[in-house]
Amino acid sequence: QNSDSHVLLKMYADAAKLYSHILLKTENGTQALKYLNNRDLGEDLIQTFNIGYAPNNNDLLLQFFKGRDVSEDILRKSGLFAENQEGQLFDRFRDRVMIPITDESGNIIAFSGRILDKTASTAKYLNSPETPIFNKGKTLFNLNNAKKEIREKSNVILFEGFMDVISAYKAGVTNGVASMGTSLTDDQLYTLSRLTNQINVCYDGDDPGVEATYRALTQMNDDRFTYGVISIPDKKDPDEFIRSEGNEKFQNLTNNGVQTPISFILNYFKRNYNLNNEHDQLEFLNQSLHEIVKLQSPVEIDMYVGRVADEMGVSKEAINKELDALRRQQA
Ligand code: CTP
Ligand code: MN
Ligand code: MN
Ligand code: MN
Ligand code: MN
Repeated sequence: QNSDSHVLLKMYADAAKLYSHILLKTENGTQALKYLNNRDLGEDLIQTFNIGYAPNNNDLLLQFFKGRDVSEDILRKSGLFAENQEGQLFDRFRDRVMIPITDESGNIIAFSGRILDKTASTAKYLNSPETPIFNKGKTLFNLNNAKKEIREKSNVILFEGFMDVISAYKAGVTNGVASMGTSLTDDQLYTLSRLTNQINVCYDGDDPGVEATYRALTQMNDDRFTYGVISIPDKKDPDEFIRSEGNEKFQNLTNNGVQTPISFILNYFKRNYNLNNEHDQLEFLNQSLHEIVKLQSPVEIDMYVGRVADEMGVSKEAINKELDALRRQQA
């Protein structure tokens, strides 16, 4: 088991070197390099994140490791290969930009491969399967790079995607990590709790991202953390925002644009109502009160009672009475 892990780590390191070489130094990598450059990823960033390219070849990696006398058993355990109907192995990653995923110490333990072609019918990102060295639910993308900054800034920014983390890093926002397409697991939360007690959620600004933010906030009631939300405008994702608005605007957003969860939630509710309509107004008020009633801090309560009162054109006093009634009802 332990010696397997050792061999597997070495394989992933070697595979990453090979993919990097193909991307940067060979004709086969030209198209992928152009793709990355079009996404504003220059050579520095490519090196920092150890990005590579797996060419459109069924057995490039297979031959590479066979030439090094790696056993069939280890080849199968590595997750770098898939199996055809005859039981023969072939390279799992083909014609994809390869993003290495590292553990907390920076060892490469998995890959995510992105297709170049938007119209391709297969998944946009293909991830390594679970292996003796890769447990998805225990891994946070970029944690090894971001660890120091997370401690220094006393907060971590949680992104949806790899490219968001990478673009943010390029923009000087280096305390970002991503969970790989799922909500945070207890293991991931425990890992973060050793570094910081503030998690700022910075998911995509599109509808799925906004829904995922709401879900994340309602699931995260972990005493160890304070939560914040960084909302990306115009339905963009952080990477798109950085590329269209520039580094400085993104830095500003992450430094000064962190909303409280309740602020995000009230805006989130508001999207679903037509506040010119009295029925909708009352529904919005009722839904908002059910959130405000959960707050502990009197100052925070007063602030959001004030905000809702302003928006609805009613007095704070009336809203406080409704809140009291709700508290009695819930007691
Ligand atoms: N994801 C995945 N498989 C997919 C789509 C998404 O694993 N088929 C995960 C990836 O980790 C991805 C994240 O979910 O980074 C967010 O998805 P999405 O916003 O759709 O992709 P982007 O990160 O914006 O990817 P890109 O900018 O490269 O288009
Ligand atoms: Mn998304
Ligand atoms: Mn996205
Ligand atoms: Mn994106
Ligand atoms: Mn009720």
